[in-house]
Amino acid sequence: MKRAFPRVGTSRAATAICSLAMVAAAVTALAASASALSRPSVHHTVSISTRSFGTVAGQPVDLYTLSNGHMRVNITNYGGIVQAIYVPDRFGRMANVALGFRNLAGYVKNDVYPQPSGGSGTTYFGATIGRYANRIANGSFTLNGHTYTLPQNNGTNTLHGGPNAWNTKVWTATPSVKPGSASLKLTYTSPDGENGFPGTVVASVTYTLDTSNRLHIQYHAVTSAPTVINLTNHTYFNLAGEGSGSVRAQKLMINASHYTPINANLIPTGVVAPVAGTPLDFRTMKPIGRDINSGFNQLVLAHGFDHNWVINRSGPGLVLAARALDPASGRELTTLTTEPGVQFYSGNFLAGELVGTSGRTYRQTDGFTLETQHYPNSPNQPNFPSTVLNPGQSFNSTTIYAFSIG
Ligand code: GAL
Repeated sequence: MKRAFPRVGTSRAATAICSLAMVAAAVTALAASASALSRPSVHHTVSISTRSFGTVAGQPVDLYTLSNGHMRVNITNYGGIVQAIYVPDRFGRMANVALGFRNLAGYVKNDVYPQPSGGSGTTYFGATIGRYANRIANGSFTLNGHTYTLPQNNGTNTLHGGPNAWNTKVWTATPSVKPGSASLKLTYTSPDGENGFPGTVVASVTYTLDTSNRLHIQYHAVTSAPTVINLTNHTYFNLAGEGSGSVRAQKLMINASHYTPINANLIPTGVVAPVAGTPLDFRTMKPIGRDINSGFNQLVLAHGFDHNWVINRSGPGLVLAARALDPASGRELTTLTTEPGVQFYSGNFLAGELVGTSGRTYRQTDGFTLETQHYPNSPNQPNFPSTVLNPGQSFNSTTIYAFSIG
């Protein structure tokens, strides 16, 4: 049964907001929350504070903190990255449930391509992924009779938009607060031909934290020429707190009867297969680690879970994609999306050399992602939902990460 956060967490969160606001270099858009602050309860206090997060290639980068009196989310306009998500447990104790780095240099270093061999590679912690989330086989696709060649940054694949993709760009940020929600809109213009993709794409991602502990992520994009697009957020969750060890005991439900099996290059074969009778059956909540060591070939190929699940839906709109629960802390994450698929990735490539936000290293299964998306390699799979975006159309997509006590 789902419960709201306990009051003790509320007051601690409120304290944190005050101190954050005091140290903030600039406090923006607090006008709407000022009246809320004067109310006896802090339940509807929403705010955004801003501080410098450093510079990249001479460009200033900020860290924004969205708060609602219960929980808070740090987002940087470098890569549109969710740097931290602080939520209370059933006793009101706060923890950061998103893997990441303490400072900008950590992200920039991990985004350099190629990464040293033998390590975790580029992890995309918390990042906004574009222009094409997940893999495009052989760095190539054909659209309207023209074959486009993309840089290959993952064996022969193009992964997450190729090297130096949207996760490495400094986005233009517009914070705003209105009663009941705090938002950060980030915009980026991807030039025609960037990483081989056709068309100038003007994209925005808007993060909104509401007073019901939901983090809404809304994507919007338009293009000047026919192109392909697939946008996601790459937050790795650990509901016990980042750096606390493995998520194997955390439970997961994925609202999907089918998935897209992969080949040895982690590219979907094109088949849409039932999960029934396989370790990929998460229709009923089970611990992430229960079947992860199974010799099932799909898990052997991916070194764990790293697949696209086909979300059960009867039409367009927001539907339940997944629910995760840490039985020990009670922290629960519900994921809703308008997207047709979700990539559940169990942190298989985390190799133990990256020092995260709390000063601890991340190893295999120390976090999991729920990347809402169109299916990987769709531009080369005519039977998958189309990822083509034409001029005059707009791409719109919403995902909600909602936090509660389970
Ligand atoms: C995931 C992908 C994994 C891995 C990871 C980044 O989205 O499915 O295979 O590449 O990103 O390390």
